[in-house]
Amino acid sequence: MSGERSGADLARRMTAVVPGGVDSNVRLEVADLFIESGSGARIRDVDGREYIDHVLGQGPAFLGHAHPAVLAAVRDAIGTGMTFAAQTRVELRAAELLVDTLGWAEQVRIGMTSTETVQAALRVARAHTGRRRFLRFRGQYHGWLDTTLMDWTVDPARLASEGQDPDAAGQGITVPWNDLAAAEAALAAHPGEIAAIITEPMMCNAGAIPPLPGYLAGLRSLCDAHGALLILDETITGFRLALGGGAERFGVRPDLAIYGKAVAGGYPASVLAGPAAIMGRFAAGTNHSGTFNANVLSCAAIVAALEVMRDEPVHARVEATGAALMDGIRALAGELGVPLQVRGLPPAFHVSFDTPDPVVSYADLLRADSARYRRLVRHAREAGLYLAGRGIWYVSAAHDVETTRTALDRLGTAIRMLLRDDPAAAPVTR
Ligand SMILES: Cc1ncc(COP(=O)(O)O)c(C=O)c1O
Repeated sequence: MSGERSGADLARRMTAVVPGGVDSNVRLEVADLFIESGSGARIRDVDGREYIDHVLGQGPAFLGHAHPAVLAAVRDAIGTGMTFAAQTRVELRAAELLVDTLGWAEQVRIGMTSTETVQAALRVARAHTGRRRFLRFRGQYHGWLDTTLMDWTVDPARLASEGQDPDAAGQGITVPWNDLAAAEAALAAHPGEIAAIITEPMMCNAGAIPPLPGYLAGLRSLCDAHGALLILDETITGFRLALGGGAERFGVRPDLAIYGKAVAGGYPASVLAGPAAIMGRFAAGTNHSGTFNANVLSCAAIVAALEVMRDEPVHARVEATGAALMDGIRALAGELGVPLQVRGLPPAFHVSFDTPDPVVSYADLLRADSARYRRLVRHAREAGLYLAGRGIWYVSAAHDVETTRTALDRLGTAIRMLLRDDPAAAPVTR
């Protein structure tokens, strides 16, 4: 491709006008990648290279990129204009469809990003309980704002960013995931202080770690016993692990839940859901605002995505494809003699260079050789497979037997490249 328009050239120009060449720090490791378009399970970069995509925009493209029904709905809807500082029919349709689909929630608020929606959830939890602090888990991510951003790797009590307000960050009390005794001890150590426990139903931002049997039910009971709210951050798991998200898959009833990513088929939207007794506070004393909240594009995308997910067996499809892919990676690792471990659930799983010992919390993930996995990811990109450096693989309804075969072929190529450059990738001695 011409030098003028190559990804490398665009990245150089971008770096001059955008810090780090990216508009989200999560993308710093792919600052050199410029995408031209995406369709279904494939994306194409500006240099004409095609990739099987298992990053899916970090999750949102659950139905595949540019899903025809969602695209058509968005195109139709935005012809009317986008934001009116008043309500629209499509907004009502989205809200009613969300309440009906979720089943357990009576009311929703539709916003733009889950970073903001998490803040709304924490604020209304404080308002409802009259308490200030919240309990959260090491290795989870609830957005980049001062209250929620945490350092996983060194010390969760340490600030995770320059400029982070220590007072805001100090509201969170961080304990290990999947350890009921740790959560219980934290609640006991802060009697009457904790407004909510906030958790992903399955840890997806670090690893893909499902809850141990009884763990989420245990958190539910602890919340009930201590008068705290249970907030499920279903930004990744919602509409992905099942139509009803992690709450349905693991059989737990939250007090509040945050949805994002898959809820709008790849378009920007986030949703807070809960019972009227809590959500009703937003009608009076609890502020939640946003110029672009529930704009026409977001709502049209939510309606279209929910209709597809309700009417078509997308979850069964994703489950089957993901399971085949997980098995295929394990088989390939065995064949090529590399210690790749595959863990999690078919719609979102995690791959690492690790021993086969159990992974139940963030500390267990530190055992893996993440630098070596990131090298594999670079080779995978060269081979036409787009993977997230942190090891999560997302599967969409557009992936199928053919994309799985191609992805496994390309992963095989990447592993061979890694072994050529880095023969030590084969045995794990730790
Ligand atoms: C569990 C979870 N919560 C919150 C967020 C923040 O969402 P957003 O990037 O839409 O602000 C993310 C983003 O990845 C997430 O995974």
